Amino acid sequence: MAARLVEPVDVGERAGAVATVERRRGGPAVAERARPAAVRAAPETAQDLAIEAVGLERRFGEFVAVDRVDLVVRRGEIYGFLGPNGAGKSTTTRMLCTLTAPTGGRATVAGYDVVKDPDAVRLRIGAALQSAALDNQQTGTELLRQQGRYYGLTKQEIDARLEELRSLVDLGDALDDRIKGYSGGMKRRIDLAAALIHNPEVLFLDEPTTGLDPVSRGKVWDEVRRLNRELGTTIFLTTQYLEEADELADRVGIIDRGKIVAEGTPEELKRSVGSDVVLVRVDDVDAARRAVEAVPGVDGVEVHHDELTASVAEGPAAVSPTAVALAAAGVRVQSLTLRAPTLDDVFLTLTGNRLQEGED
Ligand SMILES: Nc1ncnc2c1ncn2[C@@H]1O[C@H](COP(=O)(O)OP(=O)(O)O)[C@@H](O)[C@H]1O
Ligand SMILES: [Mg+2]
Repeated sequence: MAARLVEPVDVGERAGAVATVERRRGGPAVAERARPAAVRAAPETAQDLAIEAVGLERRFGEFVAVDRVDLVVRRGEIYGFLGPNGAGKSTTTRMLCTLTAPTGGRATVAGYDVVKDPDAVRLRIGAALQSAALDNQQTGTELLRQQGRYYGLTKQEIDARLEELRSLVDLGDALDDRIKGYSGGMKRRIDLAAALIHNPEVLFLDEPTTGLDPVSRGKVWDEVRRLNRELGTTIFLTTQYLEEADELADRVGIIDRGKIVAEGTPEELKRSVGSDVVLVRVDDVDAARRAVEAVPGVDGVEVHHDELTASVAEGPAAVSPTAVALAAAGVRVQSLTLRAPTLDDVFLTLTGNRLQEGED
């Protein structure tokens, strides 16, 4: 966790970022520009969009990791970027954060082009990414102060921000302990605080809760909501957890193999599957599929391993005809469940796979 923008990972970028900071320390005009208040004044051309990507692409050799992705994220929105491992979430995020160069398309963040104006983008965004490590010898406070200095904040500004962040990240006295003693959840939260030190307009969170226990996950969710509500921060959050996207995001983009396969509010996306789904586990999926497809009221059937997912308009009415049809076809049913659609059902319908396959 924790590639911060001041310590980017790609070749040459670290030097670039540090040079920016040194320049900023050099003269009053530049230092002024780095203050959060000044930072918020974006040019007229910035419209109301926090993020816009058009045909954004990233290849690694022949391999297309991000395939012509279009994104529109409005200011003040929480946007959930949902997809399985390897879908291209981090690569997209890193391009938007100016840490990885696109090989095609374009993107603006906070009104500035990520390729033409990376410094302007970096000043306006915060990022808690998947890749880098925290310095275990530092205390939380030291990390935050260092980060504030990187962004050109004065000592007074940093002091004021530390007070605000102290309550936000809920680390209490642990802020003055070395990071090496922190739990996984505490490390995420200090990393989040570091991403927020300069009051960014747009916050990027790359899988902020992967590997966290449910309690820590809930805390991160609360913080994300609070930031969005109280500071109006636009949040671009990647996740492989459908519940997370469903809970937090105003709008969700589902990405698979580098392509956006669906986008909308969680409600819209789920409605696209049907009003209910009937899940059936069986021994013979082929026979079961034929039987269930013929049931009136069944709009579509997806097969995944030994499980059938039938989209139905009226769930309760579909259950007994489905059971009867399966029995008539001689299929042995292991379980039959009726439930509301999830974003995982949306993903299944679009890709033929389950999102959380192989997850523990
Ligand atoms: N630096 C790189 N070189 C080669 N392939 C990469 C590199 N970074 C990512 N990839 C590949 O691009 C695909 C998308 O990766 P990533 O964006 O990390 O996915 P996600 O974050 O959704 O798990 C994966 O197949 C990954 O192996
Ligand atoms: Mg990733």
